[in-house]
Amino acid sequence: MSQATSAHPPVELSADERAELLAALSAPLPSIPSRYLYDDHGSALFEQITDLPEYYQTRTERQILETEADRILEATNAVHLGELGSGAGRKIGLLVEAAQRREACRSLTLLDINASFLQQSVRSLQQRYPDVDVRGVVGRFTQDLDRFGEGGRRLIAFFGSTIGNFHPSQIVPFLRRLADITGPTDSLLVGFDLVKDVRILEAAYNDSAGVTAAFNLNILRVFNRATGADFDPDAFEHVAFYDPDNRWIEMRLRATRPVRATVPAISWVRDFDVGDELRTEVSCKYDQRFVQAYAEAAGLHLSAWFTDPDQLFALAVLRREVT
Ligand code: TRP
Repeated sequence: MSQATSAHPPVELSADERAELLAALSAPLPSIPSRYLYDDHGSALFEQITDLPEYYQTRTERQILETEADRILEATNAVHLGELGSGAGRKIGLLVEAAQRREACRSLTLLDINASFLQQSVRSLQQRYPDVDVRGVVGRFTQDLDRFGEGGRRLIAFFGSTIGNFHPSQIVPFLRRLADITGPTDSLLVGFDLVKDVRILEAAYNDSAGVTAAFNLNILRVFNRATGADFDPDAFEHVAFYDPDNRWIEMRLRATRPVRATVPAISWVRDFDVGDELRTEVSCKYDQRFVQAYAEAAGLHLSAWFTDPDQLFALAVLRREVT
């Protein structure tokens, strides 16, 4: 069924949001900001993606954590743990347990954009670790880092190669902001998806069950609801491919028939022809040299690098450059 334009209540957008959307949609290749992927339905679909046979990232990262959690804690000496974009919060427990094997894990702070997911994870983690002070912060990791609390022997995890969803030009500024909240005894633990055989990369974003396609298309429903736009999800199909020059997977939506889309709040109208595309996400792929260079450009240094035997994925410990 297509979305009825008139069914949307009027939506208030801030001046910043209007400027952001206008710039994104008016570019030669229009794009929709990827945060609109994650409403309740989108977050649930993403959880399904993490269990897909083709999506090696999540289980590989978990496998690295299972093997290396003790060494990560040894390298960081952390007693306060945190996670950015925690989602269902299924990985951080491995670090909590490793911290508890050393001395105590004093606190665990989760930051996520989705309030209901966050509440659920806070509740279940608090139940599982009654001695740990578990807190939730509803926020965006691009804006709300300063609400993350005091520093000191903290380990802040940013899993899932979510960092790869920043445009390469945004990674150093983002790492610099992370560096700003990182004290001399704090550490960051960042998951990076590694450059590898294109077939493995492309399969991870084109699963045979079609979950990724459903996830990508859902952005249109969320975007319509949030902005009063009228993109017809039935008129677009999922596209994902590896771009070796940019070293990223690009997610797009391609019109399968001529269709008009409007965003009245910013007076934006566009007639899509068959084959016209929108970009919804990029997912950058890295190697150790790139990570080291990005870290150094942001005033951090790569103090440890943990990977799986097939070098599919890596967890990097980043610390403040001691000057
Ligand atoms: N952080 C995930 C990644 O880059 C996000 C993701 C996975 C994604 N599959 C997707 C985003 C499909 C958009 C569409 O791997």
